[in-house]
Amino acid sequence: MSDGARTARVSCLKGLEEPLGAELDALGVAHRPVPGGVLVDATAGVLARLDAGCFCADRVQIKLGRVKAASMESLASGVRSLPWKQVLDPRQDVRVVLRGNGAALRRGGAVGKKVELGIRDAMRGPRGMASGRPPGPHEVLVELEGSHAVVWADASGGPLHKRGWRPETVKAPLRETVAAAVLRAADWSPDEPLVDPMCGAGTFGIEAARRAAGLPVSLDGSTAWRRWPMYASAKVKGVAMPTGKAPILVYDRDPGAVKAAIRNARRGEVGARVRVEQGHFAELVPPGDRGLLVANPPWGRRIASREAMPKMVAAWRRALAAWDGWRIAWILPDPALFGSLGPGFRVVLRFRHGGVPVAVGLRDARVR
Ligand SMILES: C[S@@+](CC[C@H](N)C(=O)[O-])C[C@H]1O[C@@H](n2cnc3c(N)ncnc32)[C@H](O)[C@@H]1O
Repeated sequence: MSDGARTARVSCLKGLEEPLGAELDALGVAHRPVPGGVLVDATAGVLARLDAGCFCADRVQIKLGRVKAASMESLASGVRSLPWKQVLDPRQDVRVVLRGNGAALRRGGAVGKKVELGIRDAMRGPRGMASGRPPGPHEVLVELEGSHAVVWADASGGPLHKRGWRPETVKAPLRETVAAAVLRAADWSPDEPLVDPMCGAGTFGIEAARRAAGLPVSLDGSTAWRRWPMYASAKVKGVAMPTGKAPILVYDRDPGAVKAAIRNARRGEVGARVRVEQGHFAELVPPGDRGLLVANPPWGRRIASREAMPKMVAAWRRALAAWDGWRIAWILPDPALFGSLGPGFRVVLRFRHGGVPVAVGLRDARVR
């Protein structure tokens, strides 16, 4: 990372730090770990690479500055001094999120209001960007640290797991960022065939297919920083990502899920790249002798009762016998269950899904 450039924080869901780091390594973006993610240089070149290939991140924020916050007045004056015209559209609403614990400032609501007024003051006078459709509210993060506050602007323009192609979900859908992290933790690349036998809304298949097609992380790649005056003079080059043509097939036994996955794949501009079919896992025939079989099967309190799990795991184990030459990535609520799913699974990822701690087990291909 270089001196002089502004700093961006790339955040992810707790537990996904490793795949996020691996993704940034693959993008050639230098990074430094911090709680909840990593810090990177906030140059336009780096931000463009994140838009092109950082699928595991939830949000990218740019540090606007660290200001005094010993009193409301010092906080307001510090906030006013930050370069708001460089990152805000004058028509845009601001939503202030407070974190941390400012010893001097404990009145949360009042602090947020004060920050908002400071930003409004800073936006008076000649203004920069105000063309096209007004953007949605800008979420400004203020981290109170004792008598100081660090202020962050939202370069993503909202949570990045909302890619824009999945308005239709099924029960217990995976966050898109989590699906991306599972694929990264399994070291999947677009030249390896991929099958999801229980696809629900199609998240694994669509994430994989967008990567394989070299499409950007969000549907149109238009993250907020691209409209900021801060980067108006930066020359942003297109970023070519590694692509691949290996088959991507997803199945579900539920016709409603199949329809939703087909429509989501079309919205995600990969309708022709992902094959979605109705099928029961136990009856699937592997479409080749190698690849990655990845699944977020029904489990936990939302779908299957915990008591039913051993029976379901035993049925999946029987079905997995047909996939010996394949690598397997499987999500389960309890790491101890991988032993019942079959030999050779190692836990490569742990995170919380819908409030439940879960683990991803990975099994290498077995030669019969
Ligand atoms: C937890 S959901 C998958 C959610 C998906 N990962 C997503 O992000 O939308 C589990 C899915 O598995 C399907 N399913 C359960 N058992 C199945 C089986 N034996 N064969 C095929 N599909 C199955 C269910 O219909 C459900 O859509």
